[in-house]
Order: sequence, then C-alpha cells, then structure tokens
Amino acid sequence: MLSSALITLALALAASARPARFGRRAAFDLANGQAAIALNDQFKTLTADSPCTAPQDACVNQGFAQCVSGKFVIQPCAAGTICAALPLVNSAGTSITCTTQADLDARIAAVSHLGALWCPILNSFIFQTGATAGAAAPPAAPPTAPPAAPPAAPSTAPPTTPPTGNNVGGGAATGSAAAQALQTSLTLDPSVICTNFTDNGQNPPTAGQSPSLTSTNNYINFCALTLPATPLTNGGQITTGSCNPTPIGLIPSVDKMPSAKFSFPKNGQTIPANVAFNITLNILNLQAGVFTNAVKTYFAAPQTLNAQGLIIGHSHVVIETLDSLDQTTPTDPQKHLFFKGINSAAVNGVLTAEVAATNPVGVTVASGSVGVPPGAYRLCTINSSANHQPVIVPVAQHGSLDDCVYVRLLPLHIGYMLTCFSQFTAA
Ligand SMILES: *[C@@H]1O[C@H](CO)[C@@H](O)[C@H](O)[C@H]1NC(C)=O
Ligand SMILES: *[C@@H]1O[C@H](CO)[C@@H](O)[C@H](O)[C@H]1NC(C)=O
Ligand SMILES: *[C@@H]1O[C@H](CO)[C@@H](O)[C@H](O)[C@H]1NC(C)=O
Repeated sequence: MLSSALITLALALAASARPARFGRRAAFDLANGQAAIALNDQFKTLTADSPCTAPQDACVNQGFAQCVSGKFVIQPCAAGTICAALPLVNSAGTSITCTTQADLDARIAAVSHLGALWCPILNSFIFQTGATAGAAAPPAAPPTAPPAAPPAAPSTAPPTTPPTGNNVGGGAATGSAAAQALQTSLTLDPSVICTNFTDNGQNPPTAGQSPSLTSTNNYINFCALTLPATPLTNGGQITTGSCNPTPIGLIPSVDKMPSAKFSFPKNGQTIPANVAFNITLNILNLQAGVFTNAVKTYFAAPQTLNAQGLIIGHSHVVIETLDSLDQTTPTDPQKHLFFKGINSAAVNGVLTAEVAATNPVGVTVASGSVGVPPGAYRLCTINSSANHQPVIVPVAQHGSLDDCVYVRLLPLHIGYMLTCFSQFTAA
C-alpha cells in the first residue's frame, strides 16, 4: 500500500528531523499551525482576572482581550464567532481575531497538508518500534484456565507459597497440619482473633475522627446484621449490593507496594483515532497475570503474596470518555469505552493490552466503533489481587498504586499531524 519511496522518505525525515527539509514555506506553515494550536490551548486557561503584560492580546472567555495596565479588557465577538489565534498564511506567525469555529478548523487543516502526507507513515514506525518495544513476545494469554491461582473456595488452604519478609503474623503457621485443619473448621480460632478490634480508636477522642466499629470475634458474623435483605456476595458480582465476609488476607511490606506507569500512551500524548494501538505499562511489585473466575469467585478469597512477598494478582486498563482534557465534572463509573483485563504476566516488566481496530473478543468497545474515536480520554489501570479485590497495602499514606493518563485522539488528517510533527521535531 505504501510505496517504499515514501517509507524511505519518512525514515530520512526521522533521521534528520529538520523542518528545513520541507522548504521555508512548508516549515512556517507547520510552525504557524502549531503555534496557533498552542496559543488557543493557552487561551483556554485564561480568565478575566488573569494577570497580563501590555501589549499582550489574547482570547478570554471567547472574547478578544487586550492587556491594559496589567488587566485584560475583553470585547465580546459578534454572535456566531469566537476569538481564536489563526496561523498566518504568507509569513511566519499568528493573528488573534474573531472568526467562526469552521474557519479556525479549516485554516489549521490547510497548513497540515504536508504533515498529512508523511506523519501517518512516520507514526507507524513510532508505533511499531515504540509501543511494542520490550513486549515483543508475550506468552499467549490464557483466556480460560486461571494460572496457578489460589484456591477459590474459602474453606481450603492458604497460599501455596508461604509469605516471607512481611508483617503478617499468620505466616508462621502456614502449611502446618494444625493450620490446615483450621481451614475447614466452623469455629473461630483464638489464635486469629484481633484483640485490638475492641478499641474504637477514640480513647481519647480526636476531634473530627469517627469511632470505628468494634468486634470481639473479627466480625465473623458481620453480614448477619443485614441478612436477609442484603445477600452475601458469595463469589458473585452482585450489582444491587451485597455483604462480603472474606478476610482481607495477606498484606505486603511497605517495600513491596505495587506501582504502575503507562509507557504508551504517555500522559498528554496525542495519538491517531480509529487506529489499533497497544497500551503498555511498566509494572513494579505485582506478580501479574493471575486471575480467578470473575463470575464465580469474585472477592471469594483473601489477598495472597508470592514467595518474594509480592501481591499475586492482575491488572486491567479502562478507557473513559471525557468532554475535554480539563473536564472537572466526575465521570460515571458505570460507563466506560474500553475495558480489558490483562491476563498475561509482565514481559520484561511490561504489560500490554491491545486496543484493536476491530473489537476483539473480551473487549468492550462502544458498539460499531473502530478502535477509539476522536476525543479526550482518561486511561487508568485497576490493579487487583487474584480474586479481583483492589490491591491492599500495609500503610494508609502511600503513593498511587494505579496510573491514569489523559490523552487526545485526533483524526489522522488535522491537528494530529501538527502534534505529530511537533513531537517529532522536538525529539
Ligand atoms: C494492640 O493494642 C495494644 C494495646 O493498646 C498495643 O500495644 C499494640 O501495639 C496494638 N497492636 C497493633 C498491631 O497496633
Ligand atoms: C500489540 O502487541 C502484540 C504483542 O507484541 C503484537 O502482536 C501486536 O501486533 C501489537 N499490536 C499493535 C496494534 O501494535
Ligand atoms: C497496575 O495496573 C497496570 C495496568 O494494568 C500495570 O501496568 C501495573 O503494573 C499495575 N501495577 C501494579 C502495581 O500492579
């Protein structure tokens, strides 16, 4: 489809990365387009109270603003028009004026014609070399059988590998015959009673702090308080609410708290819409790739650790649609564009989830869409133990165990080209 001449061109550009290669006209067209986009983004952050230095013109609240004595004086644009920075056509620079949104879009599209030729080609190289680097050959994901998962039934044995180097007192007894026998007993063993659960934490009282619930029997029959109106979770995902009696289980030491960072896409990155891409994550301190049956064993066993003291679990990525990158209204947790459990283990510390151009099995994408449509999105991880509870760590004050990045997806032909160009030339 792509001629090898074009690919050669793209590679040559990649090697030199100098706008001068395109000739002066093309270079300032692209630079003007980038400058206009950057200015319009910056104008969105200004308010009538923003400080300014004369002689500075800007757009504030869609009106034309001139800086007078350190304050903006704003003149509203005529109905149907907005204030915007436009790329100049015959020389380097931008102009700030009232115009229509359609005119702004058309002018920016017009100066992206050169980028439109080579940026997608270039991008396919960036994607293929950047997005899958380090994740070249992940093992085939086991879609059905949970690998080496801890037992689902609450009455069976604790983790096969005894925890080491963590602060869990029960670890010492793991595997002993007596401890095994207790796993089928219907009586609470005195060795596991948390005697401090009788303290509500308010002796002496601290203003503003709530008293804790208390218990002398580890809340073992807690759910009886709300039965039968509220059913037991009992391994299911009960959308109308439930009560879950599973203990929290093994908690890692502070130096084993998990953490994650997206490596593609990066925060603030602009990527083309409706094109397959791989989300990649760098992961620390999680034995990823272990998940149990989410329909039958949801929250049905305590969190467990491996022999290195790392939480045994898995990760997910979720993509939510935003109105804009700077949306401030809360999102609706019942709505997401894309959700995928990452069932395979990390390869060289990297987890990969493909957002394909067509809907693969097991991936929820808005019906009829191909890849992810243009727009602003939040991509977040959800790190879980094997039985899908959020990872639980030993201290209250800790860094985020999940990562979120905010990205824009643009159609291949407009602003994306300019952004692609600027990312490219900035490198
Ligand atoms: C339990 O309470 C006792 C008595 O207040 C205290 O000495 C002990 O440190 C507490 N245990 C934990 C784990 O906080
Ligand atoms: C995603 O990564 C997998 C594994 O490396 C690879 O087979 C696949 O082609 C990649 N998909 C895209 C869109 O790059
Ligand atoms: C959290 O989830 C992300 C993505 O699913 C993963 O890359 C990351 O390693 C996870 N982090 C931890 C600590 O599990």
